[in-house]
Amino acid sequence: MARAKIALIGAGMIGGTLAHIAAREELGDVVLFDIFEGTAKGKALDLCEATPVFGKDSHLKGTNDYADIAGADVCIITAGFPRKPGMDRKDLVGKNLGVIKQVAEGIKEYAPKAFVICITNPLDAMVWALQKFSGLQPRKVVGMAGVLDSARFRWFLAEEFGVSVQDVHASVLGGHGDTMVPLTRYSTIAGVPLPDMIKMKWTTQERIDAIVNRTRKGGGEIVGLLGNGSAFYAPAESAIEMATSYLRDKKRILPCAVRLSGQIAGVRGLYVGAPAMIGARGVENVMNLRLKADEREMFMNSVAAVEKIIAECQEMEPSLR
Ligand code: APR
Repeated sequence: MARAKIALIGAGMIGGTLAHIAAREELGDVVLFDIFEGTAKGKALDLCEATPVFGKDSHLKGTNDYADIAGADVCIITAGFPRKPGMDRKDLVGKNLGVIKQVAEGIKEYAPKAFVICITNPLDAMVWALQKFSGLQPRKVVGMAGVLDSARFRWFLAEEFGVSVQDVHASVLGGHGDTMVPLTRYSTIAGVPLPDMIKMKWTTQERIDAIVNRTRKGGGEIVGLLGNGSAFYAPAESAIEMATSYLRDKKRILPCAVRLSGQIAGVRGLYVGAPAMIGARGVENVMNLRLKADEREMFMNSVAAVEKIIAECQEMEPSLR
């Protein structure tokens, strides 16, 4: 069978890391696209030259021409601008919305059958706009946030309990950012839910609350430490996990930004984080979780934050109304 083709739109820190992992895992051939042709070509060539050392037959190509993504099976989007000091949130939304419009047009023309994973922030609004601009089927367009948020949550829990990360499962819902909803009753250590871990006196409610808070602010913590950039290893690993589930039809249930049609709290037409089954047909199912009153309140608060950014996008781009 022919190798899968993976188009990475944006060859910055996350894009380059995605290319590295995809090549090492031999997930497929990689096209790295960036408006800065040299960045895309330079990273692709550097990685091609690494393949004989790690012994994998993936081919990588750098480009600034959308025609090169033709027939891609998966597109992962990181194109965009980071928030710079002095830039307000609305300015960032406007700039990245313009980028997402161009990307959507490129994908619609050259790779309309691809499974598309958006990483560009503000995530939930950008993936919503990407689906609208491209007209691709909603089950083929998803956003990467929940896998990353739950990975951060899992790491903090593994540290708290001093156990293997493999024995920690964590569940998160809602938008990416401060309003994200960590579901502690569905988060477990070797199958034991966190509320039971508290009853067993392995930890306290206060410590779990602090971990939840740290998870919500996980992106900002890395930005503060790096001083000039944002997280890239964990976001890239997270998107690769989603792409792998699609390419290998694994039917993993992963928290992703998906377009809801009433499965959770009756929300429809919006992209927000929910547990989704990813297989060869894209999003094959979304778990219709029944939320408790406090969880529902947090979830709706998160939905309202996403709606606010979408309203700003619609103001800037009347075609999105
Ligand atoms: N088309 C293609 N590429 C573009 C475009 C465009 N219109 N505009 C910008 N880019 C490219 C930039 O040239 C840059 O190489 O997108 C890349 C973004 O890379 P970085 O700035 O290194 O950002 P990164 O850390 O990879 O994060 C990308 O993911 O987590 C989110 O908030 C983050 O939105 C950001 C995105």
